[in-house]
Amino acid sequence: MENFIFNIPTRAYFGKGQIENLASGIKEFGGSRVLLAYGGGSIKSNGIYQAVIDQLNGAGIFYVELSGIKPNPPIEDVYEGIRLMKENHLDFIVAVGGGSALDAAKAMAAGAKYDGDVFDLISSKVAVSDAAPLATVLTMAGTGSEMDMGGVITVGENHKKYAILHPLLNPKFSILDPEYTYTVPEHHTMAGCSDILSHLMEQYLRPDVGVDVPDRMNEGVMKAVLDNAPKLRHNPNNYNARANIMWASSMALAGFQFMMGKQFGAFPVHSLGHELSSLNDMTHGITLALITPAWMRFTLISAPQYTSMFARFARNVFGVIETNDAKAALVGIEELESFYQSIGMPSRMRDAGVEKSQLEYLAEKATEFGDIGTMSPINKAQALEIYTMAW
Ligand code: NZQ
Ligand code: ZN
Repeated sequence: MENFIFNIPTRAYFGKGQIENLASGIKEFGGSRVLLAYGGGSIKSNGIYQAVIDQLNGAGIFYVELSGIKPNPPIEDVYEGIRLMKENHLDFIVAVGGGSALDAAKAMAAGAKYDGDVFDLISSKVAVSDAAPLATVLTMAGTGSEMDMGGVITVGENHKKYAILHPLLNPKFSILDPEYTYTVPEHHTMAGCSDILSHLMEQYLRPDVGVDVPDRMNEGVMKAVLDNAPKLRHNPNNYNARANIMWASSMALAGFQFMMGKQFGAFPVHSLGHELSSLNDMTHGITLALITPAWMRFTLISAPQYTSMFARFARNVFGVIETNDAKAALVGIEELESFYQSIGMPSRMRDAGVEKSQLEYLAEKATEFGDIGTMSPINKAQALEIYTMAW
């Protein structure tokens, strides 16, 4: 087990009506002039916007709005937020939405305290050294941005996704009201569940050994996602199912895995999936469902020394009773594919609109900054192999 420091610097206000803590939280963390950042309008039609501004107005907090942050947020939206922050001398950000609004706000928080181009920070050319405080009001479960230190920003003509990462970007607090997710359409709800599961699997299926506590916690959260996601297909207003999925989202990337004895490292399925989002503007969680089974089969072949880990995943998460490790591992992958089908994820990249002629380009882009593997190296040729298996 690796050494670790356990510290989750984001306070969670979880449950119905927790929006009532927004204004006092802003003041507690020193905010007086707020950038209110949100997406394309869902919060206006479902009443969340009104609840937020009632809080701000009720406490006499000055705010400037930035609306229209796009999914897979482009750096241009970040520039606009930084401009508003600097021109209006704003000292706090409230981001309302899913991962895209939250991630963009994190980059704005860092960029508002930096004199150069925020791309320097997004591309890790310059380390983040200061950031405006921010809070989030989560409206869609999935990315874990509400409790983590990362933000994913899309840059340039190729729509390359970069992760800006720093503990200063952890929200000071997050309002997590499961009722705010009732209006998320089924497609995005299920893509969010796929994203949560992927965060857990990418941390569970790693070469680290002897980390039983986080691994056992992880298995439990994965099972909670498997149990609760299908319930939302039948009843999107099932409060307990929404609550369990929301808390699973927050726990998956809050640090229980990589801070507690695991190395913080690459997420190969995410790296491969980001290229699909970049090329086809595909929803993040869908890209992960498409690639995960292929990545698993590839890893079992190229790194057979980890077969027992995949077998443990199959047995402890999906209840597979096969005693032979190699067989159990394969049954586990089949069970995962059945789960994806049960929540409406497409099973092949070709069914999701990807052309076979695009695979080489995807492999090139996914590995342009070097190998992305964890248990076994993934260079361009191996990335192409995985994409081809998933196609
Ligand atoms: O823009 P609005 O109108 O709000 O609509 C959004 C958007 O169209 C809608 N939506 C959100 N809450 C809603 C709602 N519709 C109805 N009712 C509600 N309550 O859902 C659509 C998708 O929203 P978005 O924020 O894009 O989705 P998600 O939360 O999946 O975020 C995806 C982004 O997060 C990044 C992804 O790469 C992607 O860019 N990620 C961030 C991570 C992080 N910060 O740690 C980790 C993840 O692995 C991921 O990479
Ligand atoms: Zn993700």
